[in-house]
Amino acid sequence: MLWVLICLVVIMGFFGGDVEGLGVNWGTQATHKLPPKTVVQMLKDNGIQKVKLFDADQSTMSALAGSNIEVMVAIPNDQLAAMTDYSTAKNWVQRNVTRYNFDGGVNIKYVAVGNEPFLTSYNGSFVNLTFPALKNIQNALNEAGVGDSIKATVPQNADVYQSPSNNDVPSGGSFRSDISDLMAEIIQFLSQNNAPFTVNIYPFLSLYGNDNFPFNYAFFDGVTKPIQDNGIAYTNVFDANFDTLVSALKKVGYSNLTVIVGEVGWPTDGDKNANINNAFRFYNGFLPRLASNTGTPLRTGYLEVYLFGLIDEDAKSVQPGDFERHWGLFRYDGQPKFPIDLSGKGNNQYLVGAKDVQYLSQQWCTVNPNAGDLSKLADNINFACTFADCTPLGYGSSCNGLDTNGNASYAFNVYYQTQNQADEACDFNGLAMVTSQNISQANCNFTIQVATSYSSSRPVPLLALTLLMLLIFGTFGFDFGG
Ligand SMILES: *[C@@H]1O[C@H](CO)[C@@H](O)[C@H](O)[C@H]1NC(C)=O
Ligand SMILES: *[C@@H]1O[C@H](CO)[C@@H](O)[C@H](O)[C@H]1NC(C)=O
Ligand SMILES: *[C@@H]1O[C@H](CO)[C@@H](O)[C@H](O)[C@H]1NC(C)=O
Ligand SMILES: *[C@@H]1O[C@H](CO)[C@@H](O)[C@H](O)[C@H]1NC(C)=O
Ligand SMILES: *[C@@H]1O[C@H](CO)[C@@H](O)[C@H](O)[C@H]1NC(C)=O
Ligand SMILES: *[C@@H]1O[C@H](CO)[C@@H](O)[C@H](O)[C@H]1NC(C)=O
Ligand SMILES: *[C@@H]1O[C@H](CO)[C@@H](O)[C@H](O)[C@H]1NC(C)=O
Repeated sequence: MLWVLICLVVIMGFFGGDVEGLGVNWGTQATHKLPPKTVVQMLKDNGIQKVKLFDADQSTMSALAGSNIEVMVAIPNDQLAAMTDYSTAKNWVQRNVTRYNFDGGVNIKYVAVGNEPFLTSYNGSFVNLTFPALKNIQNALNEAGVGDSIKATVPQNADVYQSPSNNDVPSGGSFRSDISDLMAEIIQFLSQNNAPFTVNIYPFLSLYGNDNFPFNYAFFDGVTKPIQDNGIAYTNVFDANFDTLVSALKKVGYSNLTVIVGEVGWPTDGDKNANINNAFRFYNGFLPRLASNTGTPLRTGYLEVYLFGLIDEDAKSVQPGDFERHWGLFRYDGQPKFPIDLSGKGNNQYLVGAKDVQYLSQQWCTVNPNAGDLSKLADNINFACTFADCTPLGYGSSCNGLDTNGNASYAFNVYYQTQNQADEACDFNGLAMVTSQNISQANCNFTIQVATSYSSSRPVPLLALTLLMLLIFGTFGFDFGG
């Protein structure tokens, strides 16, 4: 009996069990969110022990309570200004951190102060706010007596330092000149408090929009021409990017400040390079390297990493690109997309999906074959795609290549689902009708939304919106042809 038990424990240690060190980002910018308890169960079922949030939402925190999962809570950029006031920061820490600090509460490890606040596209809006907010939050944590175990950090985009291009090797790394003094002060403060530097690194983005980028350099299975730097041969952009940061840290005198990777991953739709094969290749190279604890040439050893992301988010801004809504290891409904081994042992298998997911009825919205006047088709597609996620229709995406009716049906259906299958959401000037036939085509899934009381998009009053859009724009903002 004892022998059987020992065997069981050993077997579980090898195969089931926990994915040490690895975390995931749990973003919630979706029109239909899975219940937080369902998501926490997914994390447990897959042995994920660390999670990074983008806020400190109460329902999320309650679901995490008692799980012992390590949590990074966050202060969104739009609250940074408020945190420059110490009493506000103290209050925030009390309401969102120390409140959960009890046996059976939430195991908070970090507070993310802002999210990529120094992105150049923010035009400096948060440059003067971030450091005061960081100081106030860490000081409030210290004053509350939890500062030894809970650290404030600022997740930065890799654009805060110079990234390597052909002549610009990792050893040449330095912080962006417009914020270099500020970065030095922040780094000194982090170091004083034993807090980590957090950076988001995206090999996918190196490739995106740069057709000259050496494709294989985005992955981990070797390149024919490594980048040579002081006797180090770089074979992938992740290492090169990370070591550029290490060099920048060295220049400001903190070469061994702890660095954690706040976001890294690969999207599966919305661009010609965003697909399941490339995502599989990326993770299949990255995760075993992480597990081997080799680190990078300039920073060997264990690296703390949070994958981006957990679940697709159909309401994320597509300003950076259509791929933004497709970073999930799981689809919108919590079902796994491709085989992966988070432990890095290379035993790739589908992850355990969300359990007991409730879907809306088996009903789709499609173009009505008997509709007469098709002149309004394009306008109606544009309308649907303004309020629902049509990114799979774009060039290089899973539903690109549908014919005009296919495009229209895709758009109508995704809008109808986003509106929780409300009858009036499948009309489109009489061009649409509801069907119980699954109208999916080849690789293009015409999805049914999940039924949830957490849906954040209340059904839009269709007529009112249509009129408003027509008033404002005369037509709709998108160009979907048709
Ligand atoms: C912090 O907690 C308060 C009170 O529960 C909540 O209203 C607020 O949204 C939380 N902040 C964040 C960033 O989630
Ligand atoms: C930044 O400036 C550009 C150009 O002036 C502008 O188009 C953009 O909206 C600004 N972004 C923000 C976040 O203020
Ligand atoms: C930040 O502060 C500096 C120095 O006080 C000032 O010159 C600059 O205009 C401020 N930037 C913003 C965006 O407020
Ligand atoms: C940082 O590096 C220096 C020199 O390599 C070493 O002496 C020091 O102990 C290190 N500090 C930490 C905190 O690892
Ligand atoms: C519809 O059909 C597609 C392709 O055959 C399939 O992947 C999908 O699961 C089906 N959807 C539903 C809701 O049954
Ligand atoms: C397609 O969507 C349905 C829900 O409508 C989901 O059950 C199914 O797993 C999806 N299949 C693929 C291949 O995305
Ligand atoms: C379908 O929509 C996509 C995305 O807008 C567009 O590129 C394509 O040309 C459209 N196809 C037809 C036949 O209209």
